Amino acid sequence: MSRSIVPVVLVHGGAGDVPEAKRASHAEGCRLAAIAGLARLLEAGSALEAVVRAVEVLEDDPRYNAGTGACLDEHGALALDAAVMEGTELRAGAVCSMPPFRNPIDVARAVLEDGRHVLYAGEGAARFAKDRGFVPADPASMITDAARERLRAVLEGRAHRGWAGGTVGAVACDAEGHVAAATSTGGMVGKRAGRVGDSPILGAGTYADDASGAASATGEGEAILRLALTRHVCELLAGGASPDDAARAAIARLGSKLGATGGLIVVDATGRVGHARNTQTMSWGLARVGEAASCGH
Ligand code: GLY
Repeated sequence: MSRSIVPVVLVHGGAGDVPEAKRASHAEGCRLAAIAGLARLLEAGSALEAVVRAVEVLEDDPRYNAGTGACLDEHGALALDAAVMEGTELRAGAVCSMPPFRNPIDVARAVLEDGRHVLYAGEGAARFAKDRGFVPADPASMITDAARERLRAVLEGRAHRGWAGGTVGAVACDAEGHVAAATSTGGMVGKRAGRVGDSPILGAGTYADDASGAASATGEGEAILRLALTRHVCELLAGGASPDDAARAAIARLGSKLGATGGLIVVDATGRVGHARNTQTMSWGLARVGEAASCGH
């Protein structure tokens, strides 16, 4: 079948409540990440390469809750979650509760390429990363003052323990209708040691299948896990829903069934995109061949 698909990359910088004064800059960071992802897609020709590149950019940006600037667990440590999946052969790689490495998504990508297992946790993830040539990061180089202050506020009872917002993710579709998704996060502020959220769990925070599409979630991880939210949204696509309608319906279910909040970005295998949130904000960026990149919140 001959197809004419316009390659596209859509990213999010997390659902939450970014203060008014910072919203434009959060969205602009997403726009730049989407542009970087699309550039990689056009160089390397693959949706997988595109989502990894877009998430790297957001992990390196301390404004978001992933990589540098990610939130801290109850002991003040970084314990990082990331996953990447491609929709053609359903190959996937993920790490969870991993000690600091600069770009967790690159370690997840190495897990995918290695192919023996799909998900590595904690010290096992760190060992895998070191075996593949990744250098552990000095925690001081990745922990920001803002992350320390957020943890202090939680531990002193000035803020609710919980979901941090600012998880990052990307979805992409290439000219052949191959899709991919990637997600990276520090999880929740003050989380218990060993807590793993939705982001690295396939079908919860991250999913891709060329038969339907790809999705990355952000929001209350425990609820997103219980609803297998990205798999659910892909099933809605497979049933004929548009990406926007599928994203809206899945987020409505997150709210109505579990009283939880979050957001989704979605692409289908024809390159149509959609997103939805039931939070105050979810910064996003979109880059598509032949049109100016855009962003919003
Ligand atoms: N959605 C990110 C987390 O709960 O870990």
